[in-house]
Amino acid sequence: MAYHYARLGANILITARREPKLKGVVEKCKEIGNLNGKNHLISLDMGDGEAPSELIKYAEHVFGSIDYVVLNHVISWHYGEWTGSEDDLTRLHRTFTVSFHSYVSIASHVIPHLEASRGSLIVMSSTLGKIPMPFVASYSAAKHALQVGVKIRVAPQFLRWCLHG
Ligand SMILES: NC(=O)c1ccc[n+]([C@@H]2O[C@H](COP(=O)([O-])OP(=O)(O)OC[C@H]3O[C@@H](n4cnc5c(N)ncnc54)[C@H](OP(=O)(O)O)[C@@H]3O)[C@@H](O)[C@H]2O)c1
Repeated sequence: MAYHYARLGANILITARREPKLKGVVEKCKEIGNLNGKNHLISLDMGDGEAPSELIKYAEHVFGSIDYVVLNHVISWHYGEWTGSEDDLTRLHRTFTVSFHSYVSIASHVIPHLEASRGSLIVMSSTLGKIPMPFVASYSAAKHALQVGVKIRVAPQFLRWCLHG
């Protein structure tokens, strides 16, 4: 996705936890993108409650304004039967923190920028947010919550929804 935006000449800021991977993506964006483009990275764990505001502050710092925000990160799936164990509860909490709360938090922090730029928010959902499947309850619930939480409550006017197979 970053390469696609780079080819279109966008300035890019990408984030995830693994900095070496991010560096590789930024290098390639420099090769294929606008010669005078700005390509940045910031390594953050979206399980950390401060990460969404840090991300937007960094974007403000390097770009000044923000036109497009693509929310795509997701915690690895846990595929298994819900047993109600402490492990299940911990995984549910982590799934919602990374794959739901951080989306709502980023969307909330970025709204003033999107208002100013008349920009767009792109949220990566899943068919499993619409049609649940056995053994992926936490993932499915987080994606469903996104559809309600971001689409209806947080930022409907900026949203370009993306449903993924
Ligand atoms: N693949 C599919 O078949 C499919 C189907 C339906 C919907 N989707 C949706 O499409 C999107 C992308 O899916 P994908 O298959 O490309 O996922 P993926 O390969 O598992 O990639 C997940 C990305 O999220 C980052 N990430 C994971 N945990 C993170 C954390 N705690 N903080 C910050 N970044 C984190 C990972 O980088 P780090 O590990 O470096 O942090 C990685 O870049 C997701 O929203 C997913 O729900 C995918």
